[in-house]
Amino acid sequence: MPSNSIVQQPQTVAQTVGLCLSRKPMSVSLVVLAAGMLLLVSGCPSGTGTIGSQTTCLACHNGRVAEDMRIYLLSAHRGIDCTSCHIGAEAHVQSGGTLGTLVNPSTWTIEASSAVCASCHQQEVTGFLGSAHATSRRVACYDCHDVHSPLETRAPVANNLSCLTCHGIFDFQTNDIISAHTNHPVDPSGTGASRCTSCHMPPLVREDQADGPHSHSFLPVEPIESARQSDNGETVLPNSCAGTTGCHDGSVAGTPIFNIDNADQMTGLQAIFEFWYGTDKASGGIDVVAP
Ligand code: HEC
Ligand code: HEC
Ligand code: HEC
Ligand code: HEC
Ligand code: HEC
Ligand code: HEC
Repeated sequence: MPSNSIVQQPQTVAQTVGLCLSRKPMSVSLVVLAAGMLLLVSGCPSGTGTIGSQTTCLACHNGRVAEDMRIYLLSAHRGIDCTSCHIGAEAHVQSGGTLGTLVNPSTWTIEASSAVCASCHQQEVTGFLGSAHATSRRVACYDCHDVHSPLETRAPVANNLSCLTCHGIFDFQTNDIISAHTNHPVDPSGTGASRCTSCHMPPLVREDQADGPHSHSFLPVEPIESARQSDNGETVLPNSCAGTTGCHDGSVAGTPIFNIDNADQMTGLQAIFEFWYGTDKASGGIDVVAP
């Protein structure tokens, strides 16, 4: 945080906003990405914008007046206003960014900071709030996601870092421990074996399994869950053994097929799961919300 921002230079703040807001809006035909790149270079946002818009916020949050958030224009959220999540930021803008009006969700409770995501990501929020991550009061959405960044997760998923940034410190310190836990060799970014998210965050939809939504209860979904869904006439969703595309869906020679088109055999396959992982394992899937 630049120390010269609010206290010393209120005029600079006002001038910056005035300067930027007086610019003519750029052609709407410009693709967002190009506009983002231009802003990253020019330092002043285009267009006038409403009080909670990206334009207004980025007029100050450009690295000179306040923390540089222009990377936001390259993020998946670039289509929504800052105040979708920074509820109450209008007073912060009107006051010229004074300290008493800061609206940083990382200072809110986990429930409150998750609630701002729920209007657009209900499935993830529902699963998450029931998880040990939320109930332990030690992990929030923003611990794993920087919503202002172009990256989906702060740390990569494929090499397990997304989970091991924390679990590598307190319970999964070595590959031997991981392998004993998963009953698979450890090659998360190669064959995908022992990738935490494959078992702990299976897809909640049949299609677009890579894009999600993915389970955020963080509990594995057992094969028997696929059998139950099939028996009840529900849409059969991928279980943790079928995983995301490329696990036990028929593509690994000589191993049982746990994929969703094989649901009638899943009761039998549950025995294989229980042989390796025990019989008292809670099934996930609690974050499946009816559309
Ligand atoms: C008039 C200038 C100005 C405008 C406009 C402005 N801010 Fe700020 N903002 C600041 C200053 C100054 C700080 C405190 C110092 C810093 O972050 O560098 C700050 C801090 C923040 C913080 C807290 C950062 C922290 O470290 O806790 C958040 C969150 C924030 N602003 C969000 C917004 C949002 C969202 C908008 C648009 C609705 C916005 N700001 C518009 C000047 C501004
Ligand atoms: C999708 C929700 C969301 C949107 C949209 C969003 N933010 Fe944030 N913002 C957060 C959350 C959650 C945090 C707290 C965790 C963190 O720092 O990432 C935060 C933190 C911040 C901080 C403090 C950063 C720090 O390092 O402490 C600033 C400044 C900020 N946001 C500004 C903005 C600006 C400016 C915009 C629009 C260009 C914006 N945010 C859009 C959710 C959002
Ligand atoms: C006003 C709607 C809205 C809100 C509120 C919102 N998001 Fe999003 N989010 C979107 C849209 C739109 C996308 C991009 C399209 C998509 O993937 O569905 C997105 C994508 C994402 C992605 C995927 C990013 C990527 O690069 O693929 C994550 C992670 C995410 N949001 C997390 C959050 C979190 C955490 C919050 C709360 C702090 C939040 N969102 C609040 C609308 C929203
Ligand atoms: C920011 C730190 C952090 C990150 C990142 C993290 N975890 Fe956790 N995890 C925790 C904490 C803290 C607990 C709760 C420990 C406790 O209170 O017993 C926990 C608990 C769990 C549990 C136990 C659930 C239960 O019901 O007992 C599972 C499973 C889990 N995490 C999986 C994951 C996976 C998978 C990832 C990566 C996608 C991940 N975690 C990333 C901190 C983290
Ligand atoms: C091959 C599937 C699989 C993979 C890969 C996997 N887990 Fe698990 N994990 C399980 C099962 C099954 C359970 C038991 C769930 C239950 O008790 O409901 C579990 C339980 C857990 C728990 C709860 C505490 C415990 O030990 O029982 C944590 C924490 C956890 N896993 C973290 C991780 C992390 C971190 C990774 C990646 C390094 C990972 N898991 C990879 C299947 C897997
Ligand atoms: C412990 C880490 C962790 C926490 C906490 C977490 N997520 Fe995620 N999230 C992930 C990972 C990892 C992925 C990517 C899963 C994949 O691609 O296999 C993801 C993916 C997403 C996506 C993209 C669509 C999807 O479901 O795959 C959205 C949206 C999202 N998370 C929203 C949220 C929201 C909202 C919260 C809080 C209510 C949250 N996440 C909490 C790790 C986390």
